[in-house]
Formats: sequence, C-alpha cells, structure tokens
Amino acid sequence: MTMREKIEAAAARYPDQRSAIMPALVIAQKQHGHLPGPVLEEVADILGVERIWVYELATFYTLFHTEPVGRFHLELCDNVSCMLRRSEDLLRHLEAVLGIKKGGTTPDGLFTLSTVECLGACEMAPVMQVGDDYHGDLDIARVDALLDRLRATARQATGADLAAAAPPGE
Ligand code: FES
Repeated sequence: MTMREKIEAAAARYPDQRSAIMPALVIAQKQHGHLPGPVLEEVADILGVERIWVYELATFYTLFHTEPVGRFHLELCDNVSCMLRRSEDLLRHLEAVLGIKKGGTTPDGLFTLSTVECLGACEMAPVMQVGDDYHGDLDIARVDALLDRLRATARQATGADLAAAAPPGE
C-alpha cells in the first residue's frame, strides 16, 4: 500500500478530515522517518485540508519530527517526577557521553537526544522513551548499559545487512 492509500483508508474512518490529520501524520512519519515540508503538504493535499492545520499539529507534538532524527531517538522526560529523581543528571551525562547537546544528533546518525513532557510513567521515574519502548528507574549505570545495548543492536543490524549484500560463497 502506498502512503496515499494508507492515509485515505485511515481518513475514511473520520467524518471530519481534520480529525484524520494525526493518524495521517503517524503514517507519513513511519514512511519517511520524519516530516519535511513537502511531506506535510502532501498529507494536507491527500486529506483536502488546509496546510497550516497539518503544520500546526506536526510542530506542536513531540511525537512528530520535522527534522531527521537518529536511528535511536532518546526522549528523556524532564517533567516534575523525573526531575525530582534527577533526570537533569541523566541529561548532562547523555550530552557528555554522546558529545551532543539536547536536540542534537550524533555524527554517526545513531542517536538523537531530546527532552519531553511527562511520558505518563511517573511511577518509574526517571523515564526515557526510545522508539516504542520505555526505560524507567534510570540511573547513570542503566543509561550506559542501555546505550551499549542500542549500539550492539545497530552493529548486529549492520552485520546482517553486510551478510545479505555479500555475494554467494563469501
Ligand atoms: Fe516523567 Fe511523568 S514526570 S514520566
């Protein structure tokens, strides 16, 4: 299914096409990895809604990325419960070990670091979301272990890609 077909199928469930903007943006981001201007305009055109409405939603929610993000998007909660359990220390540590500031992406494209509002998992503060997964009760050692696991995942994927690309018999 093309992105257009998926968006049209999702939009058919809503009497008002404005209500379909959020699910359409989710579909578009899955397809493109992020949401640059031309993609936002395409979404608006498919839904037949004002482009400004699509821009407003895409730039309001941290769920959506109008700039490219790294392979792993580290979204550290800095709201009250997490702040009280020293999320600020984790942010400083992540900035130091990754060599980037909040909002930045590592030069190898592996990690993007952001802070976000409450992730709704305050009982395991401090919390960081990576993709669809939540990681809670974090401290510096757990953050380091998580980064190691993510790097290992990336290496495995690269190895699998190389193996798949190798000519038979190699
Ligand atoms: Fe961090 Fe709620 S304040 S998850």
